[in-house]
Amino acid sequence: MDAPHPVDELELRLRRLGAIFALGRLDEQGTTSSGIRRYYRRSRLGYRFVHSRRGAMHMALNEHGTFHREGYERQAELVHDRLPPGTRHVLELACGNGFNLALLAARNPSVSFTGIDLVAAQVRRANRALAGHSRAAAAVGDFQALGTGDGTQDCVFAVESLCHATDTPRALGEVARVLRPRGRLVVVDGWRTRGFEDLPVAVRDATVAVERAMAVSGGQSLEDFKRVAQDAGMAVIEELDLTSWIAPNLRRLACIAERFVSHPRVARAARVVAPEALLMNAVAAYLMPLVVGAGAHTYRLLTLERTD
Ligand SMILES: C[S@@+](CC[C@H](N)C(=O)[O-])C[C@H]1O[C@@H](n2cnc3c(N)ncnc32)[C@H](O)[C@@H]1O
Repeated sequence: MDAPHPVDELELRLRRLGAIFALGRLDEQGTTSSGIRRYYRRSRLGYRFVHSRRGAMHMALNEHGTFHREGYERQAELVHDRLPPGTRHVLELACGNGFNLALLAARNPSVSFTGIDLVAAQVRRANRALAGHSRAAAAVGDFQALGTGDGTQDCVFAVESLCHATDTPRALGEVARVLRPRGRLVVVDGWRTRGFEDLPVAVRDATVAVERAMAVSGGQSLEDFKRVAQDAGMAVIEELDLTSWIAPNLRRLACIAERFVSHPRVARAARVVAPEALLMNAVAAYLMPLVVGAGAHTYRLLTLERTD
C-alpha cells in the first residue's frame, strides 16, 4: 500500500489531536517570559525522562539517519569548532541544564564560560553540571537584557533558544553589544522557511500548533532573523542546513507520542491527571516530523561576525 500523502497524514493527525485537545485555543504561552518559564518548569518530566537524562534540551544531530544519544553532543562540537582563535570569554544564551557548557568547558579549560537562562531550577542544575570547571558558571538572566559588559565576549552561542525571543531585535542588539569587534555569534535553531505563507493550510495550522505547544511565539522566518542580525551589526559568514540531521530524533519522539495519541480515551483521561505541558510536548512531537518534512521549518547553524 502507498504511504499517505504528507498533507493527508497531517490532516489526519490534526483531526486525531483535535479529538483530544482544543488545538485552535492553544495558549500563546511563548509571548511572555512568565509563560516561557512556566512551560519549562512544567515540561521538566518530559525533557528528563523522554528526551535526555543527561540534561540536553535540544535535538540530537544524527547525520547518518539513525537516532543515537551521542548526537546530543554535536551542537557543542559544532560550537567548539567555531570558537575564534585566541578565545578567552564565551557566553551561552539560554544554557538550560548546562549540557553544552559542560562539554565545552571540559574541552577548553583555559576559556571562561558563562551561561544565562530564565529558569532558576535549570540554572541550579547547570551549576551542578559545571561544578568541576572553575572557569564556568551559570546565572539567571534574560538574553534580551544581558548584564554583560560591552565588547567583552569573543563568542556568544545559542542552541534552540533564540526561537523563544519575544523581541529578536533587542536580543540580537544585546549580542552585538557584548561581542568584541569580529567576535562571533553561533546559532543553532529552527525557523520558518521562505514561502511559508504559500504552504497548504493544514501545514500552516500544524506549524502554529507546534510553535504554540513549545512556547515559541513569533513564528519567525530565517530571512527575517538574518535581516535583524544585519541591522544589529552582524554578518552571516556561514550557514549549514542540518534539517535532515534532526530527522531521526523527530521520528523517535513522534513514535512515542503516537502511542498516546492513538488511544483517545486514554489521552482524554490523561488530560485530567498529567501536567498540561507534558501533553503539549506530545502535540508538538506528533506533528513536528511532518511540519519539517512539508518544508515549513528548517533547522540550521548560522555563524555570524560582528562587523565593526
Ligand atoms: C530548548 S531549551 C535549550 C536549552 C539549551 N540551550 C540546550 O541546548 O540544552 C530553550 C531554553 O531557552 C530558555 N529561554 C527562553 N527564553 C529565554 C530568555 N529570554 N532568556 C534566557 N533564557 C531563555 C529556556 O528557559 C530554555 O532553557
